[in-house]
Amino acid sequence: MKAVFDYLKTNQPRFVDELCELLHFPSVSAQPQHTPDVHACANWLAEHCRQIGLGAEVCPTRGHPIVLARTPRREGTRPHFLVYGHYDVQPPEPFELWTSPPFEPVIRGRDLVARGSADNKGQHFAHLKAVEAYLKTGTGLPCDLTFVLEGEEETGSASLTPFLRARRRELRCDGVVISDTGMPAKNLPALTYALRGIASLEITLRGPSRDLHSGLFGGSVENPAMALCQLLARMRDARGRITVPGFYDDVAPLSAAERKQLRRLPGTEEGYRRFLGVPKLYGEKGYTSTERTTARPTFEINGLTGGYQGEGGKTIVPAWARAKITMRLVAGQQPDKILRATTAWLKHLCPPTVRIEISPEHGAAPYLVDPAGAKVQAALRALKTAFHHEPVLIREGGSIPIVSDFKRILGADTLLLGLSLPDDNIHSPNEKFDLDCFAAGQRMSALLWQELAKTV
Ligand code: BES
Ligand code: ZN
Repeated sequence: MKAVFDYLKTNQPRFVDELCELLHFPSVSAQPQHTPDVHACANWLAEHCRQIGLGAEVCPTRGHPIVLARTPRREGTRPHFLVYGHYDVQPPEPFELWTSPPFEPVIRGRDLVARGSADNKGQHFAHLKAVEAYLKTGTGLPCDLTFVLEGEEETGSASLTPFLRARRRELRCDGVVISDTGMPAKNLPALTYALRGIASLEITLRGPSRDLHSGLFGGSVENPAMALCQLLARMRDARGRITVPGFYDDVAPLSAAERKQLRRLPGTEEGYRRFLGVPKLYGEKGYTSTERTTARPTFEINGLTGGYQGEGGKTIVPAWARAKITMRLVAGQQPDKILRATTAWLKHLCPPTVRIEISPEHGAAPYLVDPAGAKVQAALRALKTAFHHEPVLIREGGSIPIVSDFKRILGADTLLLGLSLPDDNIHSPNEKFDLDCFAAGQRMSALLWQELAKTV
């Protein structure tokens, strides 16, 4: 293993240059005008995989392509692990808040600033570099590895589920490893044992057949934007709880032991408040911010439109108003059931003066794994050696839609070994990735295969 670690150490500057190349692609999966960039990014990744000694194919799907890359196989059966990552990124807007253009990576101190640097290009690239170190130093890998790098994670992974089904024999494995989550601090590596799920929908309220003069008609017809605000306001109560009947029925409660463990994580409510720049924190009564963001469900308005949005004023009663909603779900809750209950409740609350249209978008089940298992313990050892600090077990609030399908379709558990720091600004302007986390992530990955192979 010395050769592997020496290789990683010596080649850091080149690795950073290569990561910058990868970050140049504006692979924004949600925006159709970037489809060619998404494809170009997939091709670059596959070519890079070949250069480091992997067999790679770009697999077309109905949506964005999936890059599949495999370590050279040897005779006989050996443990097989999947490494999952996504090369698509969130939209970079608003551009004016970036201190440098989002797809022109720059290094400031230890920060590599670019859209996708932490979420997720830098994180899966760390795993690729670890494998490169094995292959280029002629060090034997103790297991087979397959990289599954998709281009639709940020839009719900619609094409990956059928892909897993179609290739389930080839992808059968002893476990999945994902670095697409976070760690609380640079000196606090973490294994995430729970993720929230998600259910999303769009609500449109339609009123008059066209925008109307608000002086001539205002007062005689419902204003769809006002009706939408009133409808949405009824979705939560004064205690910060969601009012959809049955919404909390299946929520797995936090045990006293777990709450105690979560309270041991560093940070204070006041520090958190300042970090977020809010005048006062908000949330469901009776829970800490950590509990609220990881172990409790939410109902969020992601976007709200209707009426005139341009400069100056326009005196109208708009014809329609629309809201984009996502709900984060926790262990026990099922996206389909929650979507059905929410749709029924919205229809029930909608006044007869407008027409309501509800379109469910994507959903993903929450994830919770028992941290006592042998593979989790193996991963904790790799984290500790790589980061030179004792790792912590955490729950996180984000979602990685495909994780539940790895279990459902391949029967495989996932190890979530995130390398992103809380101030990496993922999904925000000025996203960055810490180059120390990048390097430690490579060491962790190199050690992980040794540790994991022992557990199979
Ligand atoms: N990497 C994130 C998920 C994440 C981040 C989990 C930090 C835990 C900690 C991922 O790229 C992401 O943003 N997922 C989306 C999925 C959604 C669009 C279906 C999310 O959580 O919003
Ligand atoms: Zn993301």
